[in-house]
Amino acid sequence: MDGGLTQSPEGRAMNETRAFDPATDPRAFRDTLGQFATGVTVVSCQTEKGPVAITANSFASLSLDPPLVLWSPARASARFAPFTETDRYAIHVLEQGQAEVGRRFAKDGWDFEHAEWHACPDRVPLLAGCLARFECRKVAVHEGGDHVIVVGEVLRATPGDGAPLIFAQGRYGGFTAQG
Ligand SMILES: Cc1cc2nc3c(=O)[nH]c(=O)nc-3n(C[C@H](O)[C@H](O)[C@H](O)COP(=O)(O)O)c2cc1C
Repeated sequence: MDGGLTQSPEGRAMNETRAFDPATDPRAFRDTLGQFATGVTVVSCQTEKGPVAITANSFASLSLDPPLVLWSPARASARFAPFTETDRYAIHVLEQGQAEVGRRFAKDGWDFEHAEWHACPDRVPLLAGCLARFECRKVAVHEGGDHVIVVGEVLRATPGDGAPLIFAQGRYGGFTAQG
């Protein structure tokens, strides 16, 4: 026997004795989920109090026809209400050089001082300098435990140039293509 170790072809060992029940250790569950690298987005919308944004890595593409994307706001977030009540919002995929934008909107969603942005005709705040932008109309909100899943129809998609900002293991980083 191998004493609970499984070996990948590259020789990296996974110790099976480290397996745990995520219901009993949410912190360790969060860290284990962090092994999955994602891009980083900033979701923005307009409110009566002004523009609001939030850094989110729960973004995913959902459907090509119709064009649908999703993301998941946390119920506990102070910004939950505006993002689930609004019909229009924009999702910005951050470029490698925009880690500070991600940090700032994770900390404070109401401070746009540091950002370059303008409002589109339906008043949604649009950030400049991103790798991609998806202007959305909310079509569904599904239950998802302590989060909800917001599904949006993409009304307008705008590609930018550059490399994606990556988030993994609790840290921002860059993307290196292999081959
Ligand atoms: C890389 C990264 C990804 C995040 N992804 C999400 C997300 O998908 N959904 C979410 O609700 N919050 C997400 N957050 C947390 C929010 O950006 C923000 O920090 C949190 O909502 C702060 O709490 P508040 O909204 O109560 O001020 C993420 C934070 C970081 C740094």
